Amino acid sequence: MPTPPAAPPHEEPWWTSAVVYQVYVRSFADSDGDGIGDLRGLLSKVDYLSHLGIDVVWLSPIYPSPQDDGGYDVSDYQGIDPLFGTLADFDELLAALHARGIKLIIDLVVNHTSDEHPWFKASRSDPSSPYRDWYWWRPARPGKVPGKPGSEPNNWRSAFSGSAWEFDEDTQEYYLHLFSRRQPDLNWENPQVRQAVHQMMCWWLDRGVDGFRMDVINMISKDVLLPDGPPIPGEDFGDGGPFYLCGPRLDEFLQEMRQEVFAGRGDHVLTVGEMPNVTLEQARAITDRHSPRLDMVFQFEHVQVDQGPGGKFDLLPLRPADLKASLSRWQEGLAGTGWNTLYLGNHDQPRLVSRFGDADELRVPSAKALATMLHLHRGTPFIFQGDELGMTNYPWREASEFRDIESLNHYRDRVERGENPETVMQTLRRMSRDNARTPMQWDASTHAGFSTGTPWLSVHPDHAEVNVARQLDDPDSVLSHYRRLIALRHEEPAVSRGDFTLLLPSHEQVYAFMRRHEGTEVLVVTNLTGAEANAGSLPGALAWLEAELLLMNYPGVPTSWRLRPFESRVYRRR
Ligand code: GLC
Repeated sequence: MPTPPAAPPHEEPWWTSAVVYQVYVRSFADSDGDGIGDLRGLLSKVDYLSHLGIDVVWLSPIYPSPQDDGGYDVSDYQGIDPLFGTLADFDELLAALHARGIKLIIDLVVNHTSDEHPWFKASRSDPSSPYRDWYWWRPARPGKVPGKPGSEPNNWRSAFSGSAWEFDEDTQEYYLHLFSRRQPDLNWENPQVRQAVHQMMCWWLDRGVDGFRMDVINMISKDVLLPDGPPIPGEDFGDGGPFYLCGPRLDEFLQEMRQEVFAGRGDHVLTVGEMPNVTLEQARAITDRHSPRLDMVFQFEHVQVDQGPGGKFDLLPLRPADLKASLSRWQEGLAGTGWNTLYLGNHDQPRLVSRFGDADELRVPSAKALATMLHLHRGTPFIFQGDELGMTNYPWREASEFRDIESLNHYRDRVERGENPETVMQTLRRMSRDNARTPMQWDASTHAGFSTGTPWLSVHPDHAEVNVARQLDDPDSVLSHYRRLIALRHEEPAVSRGDFTLLLPSHEQVYAFMRRHEGTEVLVVTNLTGAEANAGSLPGALAWLEAELLLMNYPGVPTSWRLRPFESRVYRRR
């Protein structure tokens, strides 16, 4: 198979013209029939990735783990979970990707460990252990009985429901866990913790990996006073976010990491920080090309436009104009100095077509339109496995079908508090992370070609229609459309490096923008709705109809600016 076209030589960092593909290993391809995807399964698909044309693979965690949170609970940072394979498999995968010109970045989960990590086991076992201070241990609230509800050191809520504190009977203290109780938070105030993390990162870089996707990296610095947070509407707990998101020492910790881990390694290494609730101003400072802390960050504003003040399960109807407003705000805000990641889906988000498009009659045009709109922005696009096929949310019938701890905890919590189970299911159908985690659909066979055994999570019933085998050689498939988008980023500097100008800012349905670079103009117009739309008020509308039509998601050559549902067009002129 052909190798992807090399990025044009220029002074910009290589990742400005790169596209990243995220592999959630347990759901990608299973080589040994145990129903769980693994490294050798992925190894058997590297030619597929090469054919797609992507430049970088991001691997979700493959480290030894009790798998309480799909591997985001790591019990050994320098190994591979036997579920997924061995270090030898990892090295072989890395070599196979490199041989095809594809880089590999790995998930770095260092805000917390698993409760089975030897550091935590030592920390828990003995208050006088040198490891005690590697985590956040605190006594009960003054005057309260240790271990009773309401006695927790503060009111912070865990991202996975309930208190963020777990009581330890043996030592009569609580430890902090912003996620599951099996994911205790590391205490980055302790320099030994930071040193251990740096050493581990160097070990992987020396092994040949090309960088890291850093899990919730903006949570590593907490306000050491751990104050109560503002109450969350409809919850018994408070929001600790103001005291642990982009906390007081984050910048210092990131600078130190840059110095200790990345200095002297050249610019081939890629660093991407996952940062819930990061503000535009913070992201600009972190990715500022003159003094970068990280190359790029995952911000969350645009994937929260359908959420109310109660968080991800407090759902509002999606208004396409809000999505457009948010995306364009970040394009303008990071212009010049900073750099955006471009994503609509990942292993934590529902399927993008179901959320922002139309998963029924308009599945194909809406999948293509959303991809076009996203990839034509300034930034680095991230494709989550299966999105290149237009995969959709799973039709969940009952809560017992879920495997994701966040979904299961939310269901239990709400039902215990008297909410109608069907109402909770409706929310989970829209938002559960398991929507993204159903197995990759390779072909129309029983388990979609994912596994010969029983998959760990149900395969989507639409796999007979939506699968790789069917789309690979079809020039009109969603997959072929993604290949064209990836190639376009490699070939057209206006896409990788051009500036961004929003057009028709107050149009409720149409998202239109221009990318310009050295005399080339690329116009991108997308109808973000399932109804017809008129984009005739675009500046120079008629002249644009004469320009070169680079991409389009309906057949034929358009002669007007009447846009069909989810119609998307890309024009170029020089
Ligand atoms: C990140 C991961 C998510 C995980 C959480 C805790 O948000 O993407 O999957 O549950 O961090 O590690």
